[in-house]
This record gives sequence, structure tokens and C-alpha cells, in this order.
Amino acid sequence: MSIPKPNNGTLRLGSIAPDFTTDTSLGELHFYEYIDQSWCILFSHPDDFTPVCTTELGAFAKLEPEFTRRGVKMIGLSANDADSHRLWIKDIDEITGSHLSFPIIADPDRRIALLYDMIDHQDATNIDDKGVQLTIRSVFIIDPAKTIRLIMTYPASCGRNTAEVLRVVDSLQTSDRLSRKVTTPINWVPGDDVIIAPTVDDNEAKQLFPKFRSIKPYLRLTPLSK
Ligand code: BEZ
Repeated sequence: MSIPKPNNGTLRLGSIAPDFTTDTSLGELHFYEYIDQSWCILFSHPDDFTPVCTTELGAFAKLEPEFTRRGVKMIGLSANDADSHRLWIKDIDEITGSHLSFPIIADPDRRIALLYDMIDHQDATNIDDKGVQLTIRSVFIIDPAKTIRLIMTYPASCGRNTAEVLRVVDSLQTSDRLSRKVTTPINWVPGDDVIIAPTVDDNEAKQLFPKFRSIKPYLRLTPLSK
């Protein structure tokens, strides 16, 4: 098998997400057409018909209505073919009670995995039966301008936390909605106080967030509810 070259780690927060056309569990897909004007979560798993991946895909599928409410489309990826994905989705739905309806990219030649740097250098056990590296557990959150806003990378041995992915979407969308004049503190969830960004001086803060309070000049908190 000829393996394309990796992206040399050049995808960073703020990079434009590369476009591609690919086969998926739902047939051929043009990535930018699929995203359209939505946000997108592009996430990889190591292998179909494996235990951790089954729990993860079921959990992501069950949370899809929450992502949809936030204008987020989901798309998975692994180095398996589309027939394998389709068969495995039946198992996922049976085991987890999900109704997985988002596409899963079929990437047996690792073309998109390498474009998005979803293959690691360390885990010699995360390989297929030909000894070729499988994908790790990557998550990319991409905004409607196709800008990469978050990159998470988990090892094959550790399942992700879907609530955390949703939490980051909430944080990014809250900050964007307020022209990036707020940020969110540790463990923030919607409804908690947010932080007023250092670029906003106290006068502007009083106008925008009349209920704000200063803990220190550099740490100002405000509720967002009226
Ligand atoms: C799993 O999903 O359980 C798994 C897949 C590949 C490597 C390690 C774990």
C-alpha cells in the first residue's frame, strides 16, 4: 500500500480545514459541501468492531440532537472501508441503543487521516493486520468559516468524553456570539459566569456587562443572563 505523506503537523488552531472528497458509510461526500454553513466535528477512531470505539460512536450518535441544536454536523473517520462501517453501525445501534445517522469516512489508505495528522508515532499496538498504523482518537471542531477552532488527540486506549466536546462547542459559540469579548473559565458550563476578556476595559465592561464584578483587575466575572 502506498501511504501518502503526513501533513507535518502544520494544522493548528486557526488553520483552514483542508477540503476533500471521500467515500463514507453514506456514499461519496464532498467535505465543504457537507459542512455548508454549519459548524463541524470531524473525529477519528482507531478501528471498526473494537470495544472502546463502539462505546464512543454510540455516545456521539446519542448526543447528535444536542450538536444539531447548536448547528454542528458530525462526521467520523477510520481506516476501514465503507462496507465495514455500515456493518459496524448496526452493531453500535444494537449495543448502545443509538441511531447513528452521521457519515463515517472510509479511509483505508489513510489519505485524510494523514492530511489531518490523525496518526501518531508512539503506539506500536495500534496497527492493522498488515502492520500499518491506525488512526488515533482525534477531534477537530471546525467553524462555519472552515477555521479549525479545537484539536484534541487521545490515545487509542482512552475513550473520549462527549460532554467535553459539547462543552467546548458551547464555549466557542458563546465567545463568538459576544464578539470574543468573553472567555470561559475552568470547567465552565452554560449558565455559569464567564470571564470578561482582557481586551475589554472597565468602561466598556460596565456598558456591556452591568453585573460584572472584579476579583482582580485581570479577573472579571459576569453572568450572561439578564
Ligand atoms: C478499542 O476501541 O477498544 C481499541 C481500538 C484500537 C486500539 C485500542 C483499543
